[in-house]
Amino acid sequence: MQTLNGNAVAKTLKAKIKIEVDQLKAEGKKVPHLAAILVGSVGASMTYVAAKEKDCFEVGFDSTVLRFPESITEAELLNEVEKVNNNADIDGLIVQLPLPKHISEKKVTETISWKKDVDGFHPMNVGLMFKGLPCFLPATPYGIIKLLEHYQVETSGKHCVIIGRSDIVGKPMSALMLQKNCTVTVCHSKTKNIESFIQQGDIVIAALGKPEFLKASMIKEGAVVIDVGITRVDDASNPKGYVLKGDVDFNDVAPKSSFITPVPGGVGPMTRIGLLLNTIDAVNRRNLSSATSM
Ligand code: GUN
Repeated sequence: MQTLNGNAVAKTLKAKIKIEVDQLKAEGKKVPHLAAILVGSVGASMTYVAAKEKDCFEVGFDSTVLRFPESITEAELLNEVEKVNNNADIDGLIVQLPLPKHISEKKVTETISWKKDVDGFHPMNVGLMFKGLPCFLPATPYGIIKLLEHYQVETSGKHCVIIGRSDIVGKPMSALMLQKNCTVTVCHSKTKNIESFIQQGDIVIAALGKPEFLKASMIKEGAVVIDVGITRVDDASNPKGYVLKGDVDFNDVAPKSSFITPVPGGVGPMTRIGLLLNTIDAVNRRNLSSATSM
């Protein structure tokens, strides 16, 4: 069994991104600029946005966080998104989800210019991704692909079983694993006899949001196990008052797996890399399109 160390791979990739940014600076070119919109004060969202800001700082990107109160109206928020769309200095925009109930996430996602949509949530990017064309890939699936590539995990001809069908992870992951020549099965809450499918997986990607759902008895001997889950579970003995749990019962599953991601330190840091890679891509594509339109 080998642990897929997302922290270590993310560190290596971050160093590479920093070299690329330093190169852009040395050439007098524009530095990538990521903007994040944060509505309200949900603890997890604030933590994620702060982490993204820190990542930008570490690799030398410019970063802007636009904070709005929970009471912002949908029309006002859409207007703020448009302002960023029209701001030539900003290359990538994310609107941290979830949004308050009175705001349509669909409308917001579709208002972000697809050319700045570094979350890869806009239907245009989703369509391009399913066709295997250049686009912004959603950060978590992108990070997982990078992690598998780093460890040269064989995917061709393998059966990949994905548990969860979210727009952010399960669905895009299925498209990317198909492009990696896997046979793909997507299981979800309505799948009957789910264990019979999981048992067939050479690669099992757990993204259902149920702490420690996956047990050793459910997987094939030697399976590759990717844990996307990250749930805060109350724990009075922890100074934070909670611990982070994945969807995989790591201690139970690890001895039976060939490769496995831990939580934390597996998929999480790679997701953050996915976003940085998309942001640098946004700049490179802009440079390319301005060069070809001359
Ligand atoms: N909330 C949880 N995950 C994500 C993500 O990947 N992007 C955004 N914008 N919000 C999220």
